[in-house]
Amino acid sequence: LPALHYQNDALHMEQVSITEVVKHYGTPCYVYSKQAILAVYQAYTDSFASLNHQICYAVKANSNLAVLGVLAQAGAGFDIVSRGELMRVLAAGGEASRVVFSGVGKTYSDIEYALNQSIGCFNVESISELTLINDVAKALDKSAPISLRVNPDVDAKTHPYISTGLKDNKFGIAHEDALVVYQQAAKLSHINIVGIDCHIGSQLTEVEPFVAALDKVIELVHSLGKVGIELRHIDLGGGLGVRYIDETPVSIDEFANALLPKLSKLGLTVFFEPGRSIVANAGILLTQVDVLKPTEHKNFAIVDAAMNDLIRPALYQAEMAVIPSALPNNGIDTEGTQPWDIVGAICETGDFLAKDRLLSLATGDVLAITGAGAYGFTMSSNYNSRPRASEVMVADDRHQLIRKRESIEALYADEVLWQG
Ligand code: LLP
Repeated sequence: LPALHYQNDALHMEQVSITEVVKHYGTPCYVYSKQAILAVYQAYTDSFASLNHQICYAVKANSNLAVLGVLAQAGAGFDIVSRGELMRVLAAGGEASRVVFSGVGKTYSDIEYALNQSIGCFNVESISELTLINDVAKALDKSAPISLRVNPDVDAKTHPYISTGLKDNKFGIAHEDALVVYQQAAKLSHINIVGIDCHIGSQLTEVEPFVAALDKVIELVHSLGKVGIELRHIDLGGGLGVRYIDETPVSIDEFANALLPKLSKLGLTVFFEPGRSIVANAGILLTQVDVLKPTEHKNFAIVDAAMNDLIRPALYQAEMAVIPSALPNNGIDTEGTQPWDIVGAICETGDFLAKDRLLSLATGDVLAITGAGAYGFTMSSNYNSRPRASEVMVADDRHQLIRKRESIEALYADEVLWQG
């Protein structure tokens, strides 16, 4: 993580000391580096510079307005899956024409709103969605730009919960049905076929599944051409993995090098929908050690963040690194280091953030969970009536609150006592 480093044994993000951040905003707190986000975005655009391309950042990974705004300013498009995400993109200054709308369950009002905003493309996942989009477009007297999300039946070799391109997943239209569905789409009065789409999963560390999926999609592009259906773009989804602890994912450069020869022959504009790879390692979650509870079998460090703040460890057994905000004993002496389970205060055994981590801890210490920029805050909840964390962005030597800590009153402000 180039943006994250120790300076005189004190953790810094860019030029901002983490102690300073904690002093201003408290814990638990998410902190994001603006430069780190932009660096990955830039790596994508540079690696595919030889092709017409559009990077549509997957908003679900981190939908804070400041994050979206930074990417919008850099020229990014956006991959959205709800009306709410579209509203965020527009509020952050994103351009509707660069938005692609994914997801298996778009509703009438989602589609209506997106058509009225003139988004770039609907990634359609079923025949019933296709007819619904046609109906809404007809009612609005508009033409809906669409691509079909094809399920290439490729094994992404990732965690089963985040694998999406297999036959028995709910996503997309089966590869062998796609041609027929495209022909049906071509007959619909208010549908404008513009592309083809696939997304096979998330946190992929190898390039082969991407190449296999691309081959299957290219096959379809050719079959479509033969029946007179011409496309403008091919969307390869997101999914490039990141290093959390010791993973060795392919770099964006290697990813591009594997795909470019095949893509350049096609002559279509290429879309990508990266989420995690853009923001994961640009973010950390800061949490304070509240209680140390060594037991005969295990040492528990109870911290002020919990599974409601960061559910990835509980939900996917995800392992994310935990580092101290200040290196103990000038970073030299490792005495006092013990294995600790870093757990939250929620009443669930599954409420852990990390297990068996060698750390030297005292109450009051602040820890940083790294790789927390993606699917961290966006998956957080209010379980146990816990307000959601604050979010901060840093750039160079500046820090700014980009979402204030939720108040406890806000948690029940919309609730009403039974008037009996
Ligand atoms: N496009 C589509 C259609 C998607 O469904 C996703 C993610 C992406 C793009 C972005 O994929 P990425 O580049 O971020 O891998 N909550 C899980 C990850 C769920 C991913 C869902 N879809 C986690 O924390 O690991």
